[in-house]
Amino acid sequence: MKNKFSIGVFDSGYGGLTVFKSIAEQLPQYNYIYLGDNARSPYGDHSFETVYQYTLQCVEWLFAQGCQLVILACNTASAKALRSIQQLDLPKKYPNHRVLGVIRPTAEVVGDFSVNKKIGVMGTRGTVNSNSYPIEIGHFFPEVKVYQQACPMWVPLVENNEHLAGGADYFVNKYVAELLQQSEQIDCILLACTHYPLLVPKLKAFLPAHIKLLSQGDIVAKSLVDYLSRHTEIETSLGKEGKRSFYTSGDVNIFNKQASVFLGQELLASQVKLS
Ligand code: DGL
Repeated sequence: MKNKFSIGVFDSGYGGLTVFKSIAEQLPQYNYIYLGDNARSPYGDHSFETVYQYTLQCVEWLFAQGCQLVILACNTASAKALRSIQQLDLPKKYPNHRVLGVIRPTAEVVGDFSVNKKIGVMGTRGTVNSNSYPIEIGHFFPEVKVYQQACPMWVPLVENNEHLAGGADYFVNKYVAELLQQSEQIDCILLACTHYPLLVPKLKAFLPAHIKLLSQGDIVAKSLVDYLSRHTEIETSLGKEGKRSFYTSGDVNIFNKQASVFLGQELLASQVKLS
């Protein structure tokens, strides 16, 4: 019998776990391999070329572990590396493999969550400067006006487990205030970085109650359910033993501790050397 494949989930660090959690809840039967490039995180301020090289390296590592499908559970990587990987690397080297991102599935639905058709997008500098969200949302919801806010201090707060501490208040308040200054009409904020859902308790304290906060986990999971139902050639090649493996390029003990708290279950990650 031929070996069956796993689904790879990749992020620069812990943030992709917010997407992995939703995917594994909605599609528990598949085998998953999670890779966090914690040693080189954050990606948000790296150049286009660096994010592309790091992301490609991680994707190729996941392919080598038996993933036929990899989800870039990272907006920065989706904005800066996905297109090159899909258009250049896959056709040349991996014609039977697939890599999907998180920006398009989000852009397809986000307009439905705003009554005023004024949406705030909070992300890393890389994601905001790429303009991917205004462009993609414009394809699906031309009537929506997008206001962007880069939040470069938020990923470091999460990666260092300082996101719920008192010291985080200053930077949460600062970026929220800068976004809301752009328009009083914003009634929906998209957390366009997979690390940011960990800041939701803090964000709620600084946001007016009528503003909806949108995270990507459930949106990406639903889109994957739909993708697999349409691509039976991929779906039938996937193993269905419900296995989960976790890898980090960073400190494995710190990863285990933080990831277990977040996922609500003990896990034992392994270390991977990527450089
Ligand atoms: N979780 C990544 C994202 O969605 C964070 C990127 C970073 O490392 O700065 O953009």
